[in-house]
Amino acid sequence: MSTAVGGKGLEGVVATNSGICWIDGEAGVLSYRGIDIHELAEHSTFEETTYLLWNGILPNRLALREFTAQLTLARSLDQRIIDMLRNVPSTAAPMEVLRTAVSALSFYDADEKDNSHDANVRKSYNLVAQIAMIVAIYDRLRKGKKIVPPDFSLNHAANFLWMLNEKKPSPTAVKTMDMALVLHAEHELNASTFAARVIAATLSDMHSAIAGAIGALKGPLHGGANEGVMRMLYAIDKAGANPVEYVKGMMDARQKISGFGHRVYKTEDPRATHLRRMSEQLGKDAGQTKWYEMSRAIELYINADKKLNANVDFYSASTYATLGIDVDLYTPIFALSRIAGWTAHVIEQLDDNRLIRPRATYTGPEYPSPYVSIDARP
Ligand SMILES: CC(C)(COP(=O)(O)OP(=O)(O)OC[C@H]1O[C@@H](n2cnc3c(N)ncnc32)[C@H](O)[C@@H]1OP(=O)(O)O)[C@@H](O)C(=O)NCCC(=O)NCCS
Repeated sequence: MSTAVGGKGLEGVVATNSGICWIDGEAGVLSYRGIDIHELAEHSTFEETTYLLWNGILPNRLALREFTAQLTLARSLDQRIIDMLRNVPSTAAPMEVLRTAVSALSFYDADEKDNSHDANVRKSYNLVAQIAMIVAIYDRLRKGKKIVPPDFSLNHAANFLWMLNEKKPSPTAVKTMDMALVLHAEHELNASTFAARVIAATLSDMHSAIAGAIGALKGPLHGGANEGVMRMLYAIDKAGANPVEYVKGMMDARQKISGFGHRVYKTEDPRATHLRRMSEQLGKDAGQTKWYEMSRAIELYINADKKLNANVDFYSASTYATLGIDVDLYTPIFALSRIAGWTAHVIEQLDDNRLIRPRATYTGPEYPSPYVSIDARP
């Protein structure tokens, strides 16, 4: 029989070696390939950050230009994927549609069965471009709007907003979306990334790993929390309630407040620092500070009273709301950023693979228990 290691939910268990992301949860440090997230948030772009995650170093000008060109060229979806998006029930949640569509993308990827490093990189370019397109296209189709073709002159963040809204986004909207994508791109062995690595390690394939990761991200304890935050803010607004009283009521009913707490950080989530600032600034610029103010009041109460900190999802909700994005696109937007980290991990896993197969502490009936014939059972 095996013996127990680590806590419930693998808390504190170190499950692999990885050179991609380093987190110090006690000090509130997050770094991609050793570079602090605060520096990346201030100075980098989603394209450059993706290059960093995949290659381990920052690109020089030429490398960045070539990399960006590859990502841009990958903005293409097989017509049969678009037909599929047209045919899903209009009630389907975008996150479910994304999960299903990413699985189907493998049918049309020439590298589907190739698990070599180079093929995985090619598939990663495609997935980064295609996930953003799927989210934007499905949103338009379900609203009865025509599909907006990609604009190859725009960066990833701007092209997504363009394909979503058929309107050239403002520089502020592009900068905000780009920074949100940088902040969400990678986070070590979070649940969805771990799921992706487990799937890849069976020598399955990139698309299966990413479809599984999207399924994991969807849950309200993980990426689904950003939608939960906004639904709570809408409910408070609709009821005309005091945000602090409302949240107190939820806590008294032992409900969890989306956007607070973290398995790893014991301090403020370093990503929340930037998202809070973005939410406040965007709200001021748009003359719409309601969501920020409500969020801030809730945060101050939960910080003081429950000693819980806001995580990445808390202020991303009010940020996306101020950008005019529908609530059920928040988690898909998380996915269109985290694809950078998921693919980096799948590539790393398959470059030096070993099946991930842990053990469980057995808590069932004693061994050996007799096999009782059916006639003799009570
Ligand atoms: C992220 C999360 C799953 C981490 O969970 P965890 O490490 O398993 O921690 P636990 O759920 O065991 O929480 C520890 C304690 O803090 C409380 N707590 C943690 N997060 C809380 C929250 N968001 N609201 C209210 N209470 C919370 C728990 O109820 C528990 O209290 P108890 O010991 O009195 O039972 C958890 O904080 C959570 O559910 N947060 C809300 C969802 C969310 O925002 N997810 C996105 C994460 S980036």
